[in-house]
Amino acid sequence: MELSEIKSETIIEPFRIRSVEPIRFTTMTERKQLLKNAGYNPFLLKAKDVLIDLLTDSGTGAMSSAQWSGIIASDESYAGSESFYRFETAVQDITGFKHVIPTHQGRAAENILFTTIAKKADVIPNNTHFDTTRAHVEHNEAEALDLVIDEGREPQTIHPFKGNMNIEKLEKTIQEKGSENIPVIMLTTTNNSGGGQPVSMENVKQVSKVAKKHGIPFFIDACRFAENSWFIKTREKEYADKTPLEIAKEMFSYADGCTMSAKKDGMSNIGGFLALNDDSLAKKCRSLTILTEGFPTYGGMAGYDMEAVAVGLYEALDEGYLRYRIRSTAYLGDKLIEAGISIVRPTGGHAVYIDAKKMLPHIPALQYPAWSLTNALYLVGGIRGVEIGSVMFGLQPDGSEKASNMELVRLAIPRRVYTQSHVDYLAEVVIHTYEQSEQLKGYKIISDPSVLRHFSAELAPL
Ligand code: F0G
Repeated sequence: MELSEIKSETIIEPFRIRSVEPIRFTTMTERKQLLKNAGYNPFLLKAKDVLIDLLTDSGTGAMSSAQWSGIIASDESYAGSESFYRFETAVQDITGFKHVIPTHQGRAAENILFTTIAKKADVIPNNTHFDTTRAHVEHNEAEALDLVIDEGREPQTIHPFKGNMNIEKLEKTIQEKGSENIPVIMLTTTNNSGGGQPVSMENVKQVSKVAKKHGIPFFIDACRFAENSWFIKTREKEYADKTPLEIAKEMFSYADGCTMSAKKDGMSNIGGFLALNDDSLAKKCRSLTILTEGFPTYGGMAGYDMEAVAVGLYEALDEGYLRYRIRSTAYLGDKLIEAGISIVRPTGGHAVYIDAKKMLPHIPALQYPAWSLTNALYLVGGIRGVEIGSVMFGLQPDGSEKASNMELVRLAIPRRVYTQSHVDYLAEVVIHTYEQSEQLKGYKIISDPSVLRHFSAELAPL
């Protein structure tokens, strides 16, 4: 008999590790004190006091040897550096957009875009605005409108593209507000605040069509464009044989521009960009870039950051990487589902979102159940997640409080950082916390800033 090749079901980490970083174990008694010192706000913990840090997948990934070699070979010239041109070429190749404006991260691109195009009383529709996007829209006194499909607001409903925009609602909004008051339509891929859920190519096309019909620019919030491409490949039949790169190119081809945080699918620790086709808008945006970021050929990034992004954007589109990436997130999701824990389903790309409303029905929304669960996960096992609920979204522009639609705890998976045994441990911690969920108590806010309060608010257990 001839030897046959193994057809393994195991999806192994598609890399080997050549540089390691120790993580620190603490006791529960220590963590109780540390959390209290941090005003019961995990954002205020020291990272060294966290065992497994799932606060964000933003800027927390491990870079590859190819990225590090780019970094060593960077050109740090103030103007016209080679590193900029490599960065620009990569972004233009993948997105097809003519103008590429580097920024130090995603929210800087948002600031430049919205400051340039939005005015008081304008409306900016999105499937779901991420918190910084919403904050920048509101900072310009415009209204940030979330028009995700209904399924996208129901954690338990299974739908392959829960990040899709509700096209009818989009049309209705344009009728009601008038296209002259809508300076841009945004689409966040994948939809982070809605559970890391993808947007279908079909939906991208529909949004693009509506935008064109009404003469409104259409921009993609592209932070996790590569993960979104993988979901399109695996869930939208016509795309099964296309590469993630081909899919990404097609997706961008329907838009007029994008904002990007390279800290996600740019596989970099810092960086971002604004890319767009319109010459006169690009000119205005570049002027503001000089004012707030830096000269337009570095815009807030070092040459070596731009090198890391130029390489990272392609690595994020690698099929072997994406298969492992999406599978390893689903692996955690599957374990929690098996244990009877409600999570946003299907499992998203970069994170697992636990439904804290379901797990803690005894804690009212304005006593912040998802915040309570986040803190419990730290106390029980040294894990840091993030609340996406009423602390993050409850404060209204007029200063009042309104319960958020969903109360979620996001466990975001840094790229290429943790191994399967870390994930096994994580699942154990969540399940052990779930088994004691009746003991969890609500929180109240002691002091909070007026914008993005979750970053620095101090709370106290009730
Ligand atoms: N848009 C989306 C969809 C995001 O997820 C983020 C950041 C941004 C814009 C802003 O990018 O951080 O580079 O300024 N999300 C991070 C997170 C912070 O944890 O999800 P940035």
